[in-house]
Amino acid sequence: MRTQVAIVGAGPAGLLLSHLLDRAGVESVIVETRSRAYVEARIRAGILEQSTVDLLRGVGLGERLDREGDVHRGIHLQWPGERHHLDFADLVGRTVTVYGQTEVTKDLGRAREAAGQRIHYEVADTRVHDIETDSPFVTFTGPDGRAERIDADVVVGCDGSFGPCRAAVPNPQTWERTYPYSWLGVLANVAPSTDELIYAWHPDGFALHSMRSATVSRLYLQVPNGTDIAEWSDDRIWDALAERLGHGRDGWTLTPGPITEKSVLPMRSFVQQPMRHGRLFLAGDAAHIVPPTGAKGLNLAVADVALLAPALAALVDDGDEKLADAYSETALRRVWRCTHFSWWMTTMLHTSGDAFDAQLQLSQLRWVATSEAGATGLAENYAGLPIGF
Ligand code: DHB
Repeated sequence: MRTQVAIVGAGPAGLLLSHLLDRAGVESVIVETRSRAYVEARIRAGILEQSTVDLLRGVGLGERLDREGDVHRGIHLQWPGERHHLDFADLVGRTVTVYGQTEVTKDLGRAREAAGQRIHYEVADTRVHDIETDSPFVTFTGPDGRAERIDADVVVGCDGSFGPCRAAVPNPQTWERTYPYSWLGVLANVAPSTDELIYAWHPDGFALHSMRSATVSRLYLQVPNGTDIAEWSDDRIWDALAERLGHGRDGWTLTPGPITEKSVLPMRSFVQQPMRHGRLFLAGDAAHIVPPTGAKGLNLAVADVALLAPALAALVDDGDEKLADAYSETALRRVWRCTHFSWWMTTMLHTSGDAFDAQLQLSQLRWVATSEAGATGLAENYAGLPIGF
């Protein structure tokens, strides 16, 4: 096979990149190790920044998002005895939208299908070759066991932190932070007990009340690393959520309901630099991982490909290297901003067992929640800086 851009990975980064390239008249082929059903069902975060919503709308992907997405003006930030609403719309004139990554992926999948995009699902042994030349190629084994090869002008790794592309960059600089806690996440068939998300600091550990729709709630609890999900019955989960989220305080109640999915998620920060080597470019989780607090992962992947698509179009159509040469440095500015924000939200809200840390966290939370200057900083980062920042 021959194409202009070979994309490894059909998650939101790879699918959106192919969509943006198509609109710029550039042809691509995608390979993906998983099945389409798996990719569309895997549960991820559900908060879209203003810039992400604007971009999706601007490229013809806003129809269901506008109909089903729920615009939130801000979040609730709380610690025992106090709950404060931060109104991003008032503070920075921007909002966020609750719309699951699963839904973004389905919308992209349908749009790509309608456009006749070539996507090879359920492939194995994907490898990238000759990335230091002008004729790189990708090899893989198809679902029928046949060896395949895609020749391209450029290869893009949208294949997450376990894919082969990240490892194909020789001698990268990397930074990593693991955290001494994980999240236990549940999806429940019950109307959210709150209008907007609640981020709760509590001596037992952090809790988050999020949602997916008017009838589906998404909730998280801080748990120790290595937690066995079998130790957490549904009753134990609801009891811990009620305690940490402040059930019964000031007339607020948490309504439990049937849990349909539960899992334990580790938390990690990771950045690899540069995001380009020769004719191989990295986007999304292939180049960086953020811990989930603040819901930046998907938004950062969208910002990467928004920058990358015009750079690749100029490169493959006109031989103009300027934007492609600037891609890594430009993308990494936003990557580090989101890496800092995600680390800051994580370390401000999760208990570490250290009494001094706890007092610093409470002082910081009080300042963020009650000072306009403090609140504005959180709001600007959470609702998201403009793409290109
Ligand atoms: C969700 C996840 C997050 O990490 C977050 O900060 C907010 C919401 C979610 O899954 O809904």
